[in-house]
Amino acid sequence: MKVNVYPDYETLSQNVADEIIRCVRNKPDAVLCLAAGDTPRLTYETLTARATKEGIDFSHCTFVGLDEWVGVPLDNEGSCSWFLQRHIFTPLSLSRSQIHLFDAMASDLENECNKMNEIISGKGGIDLMLVGIGMNGHIGFNEPGALIDSYAHVIDLDNTTRTVGQKYFRQQMSLTRGITLGLKHLMEARQVILIASGERKAEIIKHTLRGPVTTKVPATVVRNHPNSMIMLDEAAARWVKGLTRG
Ligand code: F6R
Repeated sequence: MKVNVYPDYETLSQNVADEIIRCVRNKPDAVLCLAAGDTPRLTYETLTARATKEGIDFSHCTFVGLDEWVGVPLDNEGSCSWFLQRHIFTPLSLSRSQIHLFDAMASDLENECNKMNEIISGKGGIDLMLVGIGMNGHIGFNEPGALIDSYAHVIDLDNTTRTVGQKYFRQQMSLTRGITLGLKHLMEARQVILIASGERKAEIIKHTLRGPVTTKVPATVVRNHPNSMIMLDEAAARWVKGLTRG
């Protein structure tokens, strides 16, 4: 595991975009799993602007969804799918066949999980997984206590996630369950990047980097991944001493 700290959100986002571009340049048919949420927003803006300007070809890549709120339609503006569509898939002009997302409205969610597991294994696994971190240390919707050997699954959301998750929605939502890739997908991905920005993440980042590795704080398992990077801005790294500044 490497930890890189950047002076601000802008520099962090540029460096995360660089990593994604490096991955795609090395492997044009890469399988990418990119988180939704506030943190990677500027990364995607940077990435898609550079893709246009520098002619970076994403047309052979595959994109798999990380997670989704159960019961929220894909076209709801607060859904992870809508976010990815708006911030990545549309700006990169991807074709439908390149994109594989969870349908969190499906009546058979178990089947959604199986389909996603098969797509990922059929493509030879995930090349790059970019994840954010929840205020409770969750990764995707792998909530505190998640199983380390889990692939895609449906879970009851932690209270913190239910409350914090309201920020993505215009109206009050009942956010009770999530569908997510599992920690085994994370550990099997060829490269993992965890990003965090802002002082509100400083406390959980301290636990993630300095606390024991435990699925009670799912983000800590990133430390056991052989090719992982934790990329932070100064504010998120505030409570961790002794980190090298990038
Ligand atoms: C979103 C996701 C979540 C977020 C996390 C941080 O697809 O998987 O785990 O990455 O909750 O969200 P933000 O970036 O909004 O703080």
